[in-house]
Amino acid sequence: MSVRHFLTLTDLSSEELVSMLHRAIELKQMQKQGEIYEPLKNRVLAMVFEKSSTRTRVSFETGMVQFGGHALFLSPRDTQLGRGEPIEDSARVLSSMADCIMVRTFEHEKIERFAEYSSVPVINGLTDEVHPCQLLADMQTYLELRGDIAGKTVTWVGDGNNMCHSYIRAAKMLDFQLNIACPEGYDPEQKFIDAADNHVSLMRDPAQACKQADLVVTDVWASMGQEQEQAKREAAFKPYQVTQELINHANDDALFMHCLPAHRGEEVSAEVIDGEQSVVWQEAENRLHAQKALLEFLLVE
Ligand code: CP
Ligand code: NVA
Repeated sequence: MSVRHFLTLTDLSSEELVSMLHRAIELKQMQKQGEIYEPLKNRVLAMVFEKSSTRTRVSFETGMVQFGGHALFLSPRDTQLGRGEPIEDSARVLSSMADCIMVRTFEHEKIERFAEYSSVPVINGLTDEVHPCQLLADMQTYLELRGDIAGKTVTWVGDGNNMCHSYIRAAKMLDFQLNIACPEGYDPEQKFIDAADNHVSLMRDPAQACKQADLVVTDVWASMGQEQEQAKREAAFKPYQVTQELINHANDDALFMHCLPAHRGEEVSAEVIDGEQSVVWQEAENRLHAQKALLEFLLVE
């Protein structure tokens, strides 16, 4: 049987995604009750990070320890990958020793090539194109707090970036409506919109996009690798800050999410991210539980 990878949300079927979210909630309860569950004893997750990370690194490392296994942190500064060893060779060697490999990198094509040469499952810990692990946590959080997201309205405010692309994928898979409000020139890639059928509406006015929203989501204006565009982006995105006034256009019980790290006073006001509708801490914690469900799905027969 060919190896299952998780490079993008659509590597799962909708049914698999939904059952993974429910399993994440179960695993969270088991962990909170102090139940020892070690299905990955003696198994190793290698984690290749070509970009910075707090949540992704700590959640995968902690999850592997809780499952009885081990995680290796590999940075390009200390590995031969960083000195130009070909991706194909690195993938063959790492997968001959580790049971699973998580990769956070720049070009999506790089992780696809890595997966092609890996004999074990490869997990996308974020590329310039998508961030599917974050969507597992976000969708788990919504399910915990509000139930099924099918038929609901989600509003994405800001950059049409990797997170936005993963929200577009989730919209079709979980059957919700996604309103995207972004400034001209920062739209998500057309291929994602085309694949989402009628689940996505692109708008310029954030207030209009927030109307009847059940969930409002934003992300940084300059993603990792775009630091030199910061000033230009700040100017373009200024009208797209998620403020309380903007959230007031959404439904009264709307939730606010942000994958973090956040910049208060830029993409979101302090009042919103630290306010009552914000669920960012639960969302961050759920990275752990959702990824444990993913690891179990990929590695436990
Ligand atoms: N949200 C997220 O992926 O956070 P890190 O960059 O800290 O891993
Ligand atoms: N869009 C952000 C997400 C960080 C978790 C980035 O790529 O930097």
